[in-house]
Amino acid sequence: MSSNIQQVSDQQQISMKFVTLVSIVAALGGLLFGFDTAVVSGAVGFMQIRFDLSEFEVGWAVSSLIIGCVVGALSTGVLSEKFGRKKILITAAILFIIGSVGSAIPSTFSGFIVARMIGGIGIGITSTLCPLYNAEIAPAKYRGRLVALNQLATVTGISLVYFVNLWIASLGDDAWDVSSAWRWMFGAGVVPGVLFLVLLFLVPESPRWLIKQGRAAESLPILLRIHGEELAKQEVLDIKESFKQEKGSFRQLFGPGLRMALIVGVGLAILQQITGINAVMYYAPEIFKETGAGTNAALIQTILVGLINLLFTILAIWLIDKVGRKALLLVGSAAMTICLAVIGIAFQTGHTSGPLVLIFILIYVAAFAVSLGPVVWVVISEIFPNRVRGIATSISSMALWAADYVVSQAFPPMLSSAGPAMTFWIFGIMSLITVVFSWRVVPETKEKSLEDLESLWAANKPQA
Ligand code: BGC
Repeated sequence: MSSNIQQVSDQQQISMKFVTLVSIVAALGGLLFGFDTAVVSGAVGFMQIRFDLSEFEVGWAVSSLIIGCVVGALSTGVLSEKFGRKKILITAAILFIIGSVGSAIPSTFSGFIVARMIGGIGIGITSTLCPLYNAEIAPAKYRGRLVALNQLATVTGISLVYFVNLWIASLGDDAWDVSSAWRWMFGAGVVPGVLFLVLLFLVPESPRWLIKQGRAAESLPILLRIHGEELAKQEVLDIKESFKQEKGSFRQLFGPGLRMALIVGVGLAILQQITGINAVMYYAPEIFKETGAGTNAALIQTILVGLINLLFTILAIWLIDKVGRKALLLVGSAAMTICLAVIGIAFQTGHTSGPLVLIFILIYVAAFAVSLGPVVWVVISEIFPNRVRGIATSISSMALWAADYVVSQAFPPMLSSAGPAMTFWIFGIMSLITVVFSWRVVPETKEKSLEDLESLWAANKPQA
């Protein structure tokens, strides 16, 4: 008897080790996502001098990647349904490597833009497919945690590139920075890109996708490694059943039941961005300068933002399968609302010289990192039924990138025309809407299997 128990627990340990390793490889895609969206912040100043860029072209240098991301996110659904998750992840890694090399070597600004867009397509794909792949591999009990690993990797990528940029810039004098440093910054992306590419060959195809293709026999050994003998066979049956129950796939997504799932996915994706996180992530030093901080102080404060983001993402990974997605969303977005209101008041009343703004920006980032940051990616990768998951996750992710594009383009003009107080209040109102949306519309998905979640939309109402 006790040896039986021992066997079961050994088996569980083996499968968790396997699932965790596979999830970490896929989460590396998140590291590329963070690395490549943030690398430009260190490079753009030098490029502006090198290519004599106008303000508009500076914006274009930053946002061209995001245009690529929108295209990548949108095409992921169709491509990953047709060719499988693994092949498309490999394609994304190759695009990312081409993008990194291509942005390091161009002699013209337009050559640079084309390379950034190619890399952006890779990022759009990995940002959509890595959490989805992890959700499809993970056992229900740990799904939140394993998908949220992706967010941890993203945040690590952002912090890592910040240090890499700083290190590269310190290797030469100003003239070298303008001629070469920015090239090495973009080129450095080849290292995580190649690592991701090589490791991808070691991970299996998604068993859910294999079953959908009628290749259940190939899925069984993978499910056996994840769930152990007893559960694996049941899993195959459950997954097959879930495909049988659904007809009409893509059209069904806009029908009465699944329309609600799409509203939750797309709604959360847009809210994650229009509550202003990337105004802080991409423009933190500029915001701190508005409070009167010098260049050095602004950079140190930006490092603090990165560290807080990292710490609270780790806390979220620990909490997400315990307290659930909905509770994190509610508490996090409520705290973000309060912080944004206070930051707005500080700017409105001129109380910006003390540490008040910094403290509330740090609490705002912490609140985002424990809620909207990881939870949105987890929810959009798990709420859709097996049959439409690729397409539906893709639509949600595309909405997220499009909203990111709008915010990152609009933030500098908003700051100068409406002023910082009004800008932060607008983000605050969006956060308040997120509280209401999370409370009224988002269902709790903790611990439910992906197949259980399918019946959620049949009832077409949120569950507590
Ligand atoms: C968002 C990114 C953001 C990052 C910050 C992610 O969840 O999708 O746009 O830059 O969090 O940590």
